[in-house]
Amino acid sequence: MITSWQSPSNIALIKYWGKRHPQLPSNPSISFTLSECNTKTQVNFAQGSGVSISLDGVNQPTFIPKIEEFIKRISPRHPWLSSYSLSIETSNSFPHSSGIASSASGLSALSLCIVEFAEKIDFQYGATGFHQEASILSRLGSGSASRSIYGGLVVWGKTPSIENANDEYAVKYPHQVHPTFNNYFDVVLLVDIGEKAISSSIGHSLMDTHPFKEKRFSQAHQNLCDIQGPLRTGDLERFIEIVELEALTLHGLMMSSSPSYILLKPNTLAIIQKIREFRIDTGLPISFTLDAGANVHVLFPSSIKEKAMHFIKDSLTQHCKSHRYILDHVGDGPKRLPNFVE
Ligand code: DP6
Repeated sequence: MITSWQSPSNIALIKYWGKRHPQLPSNPSISFTLSECNTKTQVNFAQGSGVSISLDGVNQPTFIPKIEEFIKRISPRHPWLSSYSLSIETSNSFPHSSGIASSASGLSALSLCIVEFAEKIDFQYGATGFHQEASILSRLGSGSASRSIYGGLVVWGKTPSIENANDEYAVKYPHQVHPTFNNYFDVVLLVDIGEKAISSSIGHSLMDTHPFKEKRFSQAHQNLCDIQGPLRTGDLERFIEIVELEALTLHGLMMSSSPSYILLKPNTLAIIQKIREFRIDTGLPISFTLDAGANVHVLFPSSIKEKAMHFIKDSLTQHCKSHRYILDHVGDGPKRLPNFVE
């Protein structure tokens, strides 16, 4: 029996950085779910055991240990998995070398396929619904993947300012959102397309002994509380202030941890500088956020798309590898697919 899903990547506005066993976040986070950066996954379940995986039609035996580890982690919730073999076919919309992490889209797509199959065999899982269960499994694979299960703005991690938010699974942002954030754009500037300098697990573990950890975790709660006003009113000046502070804090934490990491490249800083100057010169609400890498996510509302794209192509893509960028925007979340064959 086969199940197929397409699931998107997401970009955090308030960053998840630091975790504790079993894959629970040290602080809450909120993200925009993307649209164009996504993974399509099809799983063929058969009686038996073992896993095989192909990416774009090519067998990937080196991925198997990671998938087996994921299955081991979710098996206590889904013991039926030990009686099935999984043959996984997957493809990403973005190039493997782009520096875009495929773990959020990849593990959420796989989790959705697994939960759909669990329903087909009438397995009664613990969560209160399909999406909640898919978010729990995704989280056990990769923390940020828990947020890819829903479209729009998504929150993961218990925090007093959002009633139903919790550490086990992500939830759709429950409050009213100003229309300026509908279809918000994220242009990913590909500054560095090599391998990530540190794995996210090592990155998170740096927070265990970080001298600023307590302050950082409470700052994240405060920032999540503070961003809700601008999300409601559309106050982009305040929104940008919080989002850029979060991006630079993430890198500040990496730089001030032991060992210390500098993932920003000269081109990352050149782009950030130009975005800030352009914003001051034009008054247009264009801003940036960063992941744990050198690429820059340029964020802006759809109302200024033409001017923003003009600026990006004229002034920013010269700092990218081969002028490359990915044009993305806030999306509606995962989609069930008719079974596809690569
Ligand atoms: C900087 O979700 O990749 O992108 O749970 O170890 O798989 P694991 O980490 P991961 O960490 C993402 C960190 C981040 C910020 C964020 O997405 O919130």
